[in-house]
Formats: sequence, C-alpha cells, structure tokens
Amino acid sequence: MRLLKPLACAAFTLMLTGAARAEAVKVGVVLPFSGVNADIGNQINDGLKLYLKLHEKDLGAATIELIDRDSGDPTGAAAKTAVTELITRDHVQLLTGFAFSPDAIAAAPVANQAKVPMIVANAATSWITNLSPFITRTSFSMWHAAYPMGTYAAKDLGCREAAVGYTDYPPGKDSLEAFKTGFEAAGGKIVDEIPMGNPVQVPDFTPFLQRVKDEKPQCFYVFVPSGNHAAALMKTAGDVGLAQAGIKVIGPQDLIPDDHLQEMGDAAIGIIIMGNYAYDYENPANEAFKQAWHAAYVGKSRPNGFAVGGWDAMAAIVSAIRSLGGNVDDGEKVMAALKGWTFDSPRGRIMLDPVTRDIIQDEHVEQVYKKSDGSLGVKVVSTIAAVKDGCKELKVGRCK
Ligand code: PHB
Repeated sequence: MRLLKPLACAAFTLMLTGAARAEAVKVGVVLPFSGVNADIGNQINDGLKLYLKLHEKDLGAATIELIDRDSGDPTGAAAKTAVTELITRDHVQLLTGFAFSPDAIAAAPVANQAKVPMIVANAATSWITNLSPFITRTSFSMWHAAYPMGTYAAKDLGCREAAVGYTDYPPGKDSLEAFKTGFEAAGGKIVDEIPMGNPVQVPDFTPFLQRVKDEKPQCFYVFVPSGNHAAALMKTAGDVGLAQAGIKVIGPQDLIPDDHLQEMGDAAIGIIIMGNYAYDYENPANEAFKQAWHAAYVGKSRPNGFAVGGWDAMAAIVSAIRSLGGNVDDGEKVMAALKGWTFDSPRGRIMLDPVTRDIIQDEHVEQVYKKSDGSLGVKVVSTIAAVKDGCKELKVGRCK
C-alpha cells in the first residue's frame, strides 16, 4: 500500500497539476507475526490489507502507508517498544492491530500520552478501552460472548452447575467474571475455576480437562486464545471424552476458528458457542468478503473472525480518514469521527458506541454440526441483537 512516489515523479505531478498531493497517512500495524499465535496475526493482517486494497480508492486524494511491526509473544514488551518507535521515529498518526490484550494494555499509556488513536482489531479484555480516550475497538470484548452465554447455559441448556477453564491472563479472567456474572444471576452454580497456563505456550490441557470430567458439571465454559491453543484444547476435549461424560463444552467463538474447524473433527461436533462471526453466515457483506478473500489469497486458509476484525478495523480507519479529508494529525478529531461509526460488516451491522468507544453487535448462539458432505459447519441457533460490552453496562470489576 506504499504509494509514496519517487521524488522526481512527485515533482512532475506537481508541475502538471499545480497542487501538492496529500502526504500518506501513516498507520502502525502491531500484530503477532511470529510465535505460536502468528496465525491470528496473519488473519487480522490479511483482513485489514484486503479491505485497504479494495477501498483505498474511497480515500480521495489521501493515501495510507502501513508500517508493520511484530508484537511476537503476547507479553506486551515487544508491542510497547514497537508502539514507542512507531510514534517517535516513524511519526504514525494511527495505530491498529493488537491481537493480544497484554500488547494493547502495554501500548495504551504510550499512545495515550502521544494522543495517537489505537483502533484495536482484536484484544478483547473489556477494560482496555477504558485505558485511554484514544482507544476504540472493532472486534469484541470477552463480555460480549461470556455474559449472555452464562444466562443461556442456565436457562436454555439446563446447566445447574458449571466449571470454568481459562488461559490465565486478562481476557481469561474477564471471561470467567463475565460467564460467572450471567450464570449466577440466572441461578447457576460455579463448581470450579481453573487457570490453564499462559498464552505464550500451548499447554497440555489433559490434567485440566480430566479434572472437569471428574467433577461432572453439566457445562464447561472455556476460553483459550484461538488458533493453535483452541485446536489443541478441542483435540484434548475429544481425547478425554468430555461429551461422552455428558459435559457440554461451551465458550466463545475463539474455540472454533474457521481456519482450524475442519481439522478438529468429531470432537467439535455439538459444541455450542456464542459468537459474532462464522464463515457460514449468510449475508451479502459476508458473501462479498469471502469472494474477495479467496480471489486475493489463492491457496490460503479460510478467513475467520480475526480476519473480519482486521477488515472492520481498516473500514473504520478508511472512514475516519475520508471524513477528515486526509487530515488526521489531531487524534481528538479522529476519535470524534469514529464515535457512532456504523458499518455492514461480514458479521452483520456493527456500530462503535459513541459513549464507550467499544463495539455494539449481534451475538449468536451457534452449534457445530456435520454437513451432508462430511465437512463441519456452524449453524446459528438464536440471536441476541445489538449487544454492548456487559462489563461497562453493568459497571463490574475494573469497569466500575
Ligand atoms: C486477547 O488477548 O485479548 C485475545 C487473544 C486471542 C483471542 C481472544 C482474545 O482468541
């Protein structure tokens, strides 16, 4: 997307048109391009670059220069260095990416001090958007799925008791709190809360899942980072035999990323999740998105919800640049332009809440099933319209 022209060519254009071409808007992209979570970074990156490729023409005279930086392992350290350098050395006007919460959390004070807007394309710990008025999020908060799933598990799935497993870092703890809040309010009882390792390495999930099997709750709500963590978790759930023991595995859509779903095999069949995007959604925006993806990325895997998070983040960026006529030096004006933004995303209609700067979107109860051709699919069971981040709605924990 680097559209900077060589100097001589720019001077020639200037002579011909008599007008200076606007300088490219610099956007720093901070994502895990290496390590165990690189597939999440690559999906987000492919989504945002695809949107830009197809819609750069919407920018008028403005152009975008993307500067990619690897956030590596999700400890926050590499992301903080990357964001500091992007702001002080590269003079980026906007930041996006941020797949993992520790990366967004570590970057937040730096971006806040410099008043550089962060358009978070995934990192989902609820209170990230409370860290700075210069942060907005186009993906989801852990509460979007976990809180309504707590209610659904107690009321619709008939679960009186549930165990919760989570990767032991901010979004995992957020998931636990959100599910527990919804589940207990609907009369359910949490029988165990199980921290299951950190996001840097995929652990052996066997002892955690065996513990759940021995406890025999009706439901096991689980959050692990998507991608390789989720693939390993689902395989172990099958090996341990949770479903055969009568325990319903439930969670957010992170458990069944579309690019890993087919390899999960029978272990995934019947799993119930709360989500905002599946490859199988039938709507015109998703059909167009999938077509564009397969045309641009021949031989690559399917897009998943992360790719959509990237696509939507870039749509928000393009919209803000366009509405400000390419002049995005003032972070406050960019944030004002983003508040209340609405978009027909492949996941459905979305909006950036003008008050919280977090996303408002439909959440769907979905079930994995075997299609007649033997492949695995995701079907929507029911929909909750226009869900806001429950943590901020209820003012719970760090959202007080
Ligand atoms: C996060 O760190 O916020 C995160 C990472 C991966 C996910 C969801 C949330 O699948």
